[in-house]
Amino acid sequence: MSGKSNKTTAGAGFSGKMGYVLAVAGSAVGLGNIWRFPYLAAKYGGGTFLFTYLALAITFGFTLIMTETALGRKTGKSPIGAFKVLGAKKMMFGGWINAIVPMLIVPYYCVIGGWVLKYFVSFAGSNASSLQEDTYFNNFVSKTGEPIFWFLLFTVAVFVIIIMGVEKGIERASKILMPLLVIMAIGIAIYSVTRPGAMEGVKYYLIPDFSKFSINTVVAAMGQMFYSLSIGMGVLYTYGSYMKKDIDMESSIKQVEIVDFVIAFLAGLMIIPAVFAFAGGNPETLQAGPSLMFITMPKVFLSMPMGRIIGMIFFILVFSAALTSAVSLMESGVATFVERTKWSRKKSSIVMLGIILLLGIPCSLGFGVWSFIKPIGGSILDFFDFITNSIMMPLAAICTMILVWKVCGFNTIVQEVEASSKFKRKKIYLFIGKYLVLIFLGVILISSILQAFGFMKL
Ligand code: PHE
Repeated sequence: MSGKSNKTTAGAGFSGKMGYVLAVAGSAVGLGNIWRFPYLAAKYGGGTFLFTYLALAITFGFTLIMTETALGRKTGKSPIGAFKVLGAKKMMFGGWINAIVPMLIVPYYCVIGGWVLKYFVSFAGSNASSLQEDTYFNNFVSKTGEPIFWFLLFTVAVFVIIIMGVEKGIERASKILMPLLVIMAIGIAIYSVTRPGAMEGVKYYLIPDFSKFSINTVVAAMGQMFYSLSIGMGVLYTYGSYMKKDIDMESSIKQVEIVDFVIAFLAGLMIIPAVFAFAGGNPETLQAGPSLMFITMPKVFLSMPMGRIIGMIFFILVFSAALTSAVSLMESGVATFVERTKWSRKKSSIVMLGIILLLGIPCSLGFGVWSFIKPIGGSILDFFDFITNSIMMPLAAICTMILVWKVCGFNTIVQEVEASSKFKRKKIYLFIGKYLVLIFLGVILISSILQAFGFMKL
């Protein structure tokens, strides 16, 4: 067992367990935790949803993360290389789909990252009060130059971290941003739950309402878990390939899951009680998806004492979360190019930058001058979001599990985990991996397609 990373390309790798855990947690903790989790929890019966989510994360989520990570570390490759090394000749499609998903997500993720940056700067600026206006958000996103400017700024920040390399860029950024994020989240959550009237919100969030429990709760929690843990998008393979052979994989992944859940949980405590105290806790408002973050929350903050400062901290927190997630997506793309083309890291990063600009600018314009382009009925951004999250990601994970099942066998995974430590949850892993996970992935895929075409309402 060597202490070195087995990554052959570019010789990159994380320095140790801490660097690895923080970088993967950085990828996992993102917009999904901060706005998506709280509104889903509000919609699906509070505590009931929390419990369902947690149960799924430590069983199915755990199985999928362990599999992708072990395959990455074993082969030392990003997805396409991993499928190839393992001899999956007939299913190279699986490697490709895992590799392409992050390239399609990162452009639109950077567009939203740009909006977050704009909101942070606006809270800091002199006319922060205009953020309260109902039309502010729509006016902003429908402009041409301004959102693109913020998108470019966010993208450059991602690019700079990538170009600095895995250890000096990604690991260092995660080591600074993640602890900061946790502190800010705890601070805002405490402030929010101690506002007069906030307790109603805390109750709404935490007390289980079993009357709202249905199969939809489970399907929604599954989809959220998938997205939040960055499963099915090549990221876990790539970061796994940068992990040293002597690091305890199981305990690292447990820690990532804990951080991911804690941040999602705290996000609920930041948002739901504040909405109760300052906006009457109207469930419609809480369940409104994206507008919760960009329309409701600014209003809520600006009606609180010290609201501008809280708003600034909130958006810098969201910015940090989005930045480390975007970095992981871009890195996955860069690793694919380095490996498949033998281009240098620098050249591969520039090509990835080109892809981000090429796809990101139309996503941004899709809210303004190009809003007449409506692939499958929504905006251009919605389109990318749909094909990646609802179709390609579950498919990518299905391919990974078939690879293990049909080609390399579950023993390959077990051996890779046991190369560095005891595999404590091996029995659960094998049971879920062999008998349940494909059914579960099939349910996600089918339900998200039905939902998108209006046959099922979540
Ligand atoms: N897991 C991130 C979140 O919760 C989203 C993400 C998607 C990150 C894809 C990386 C890759 O927001």
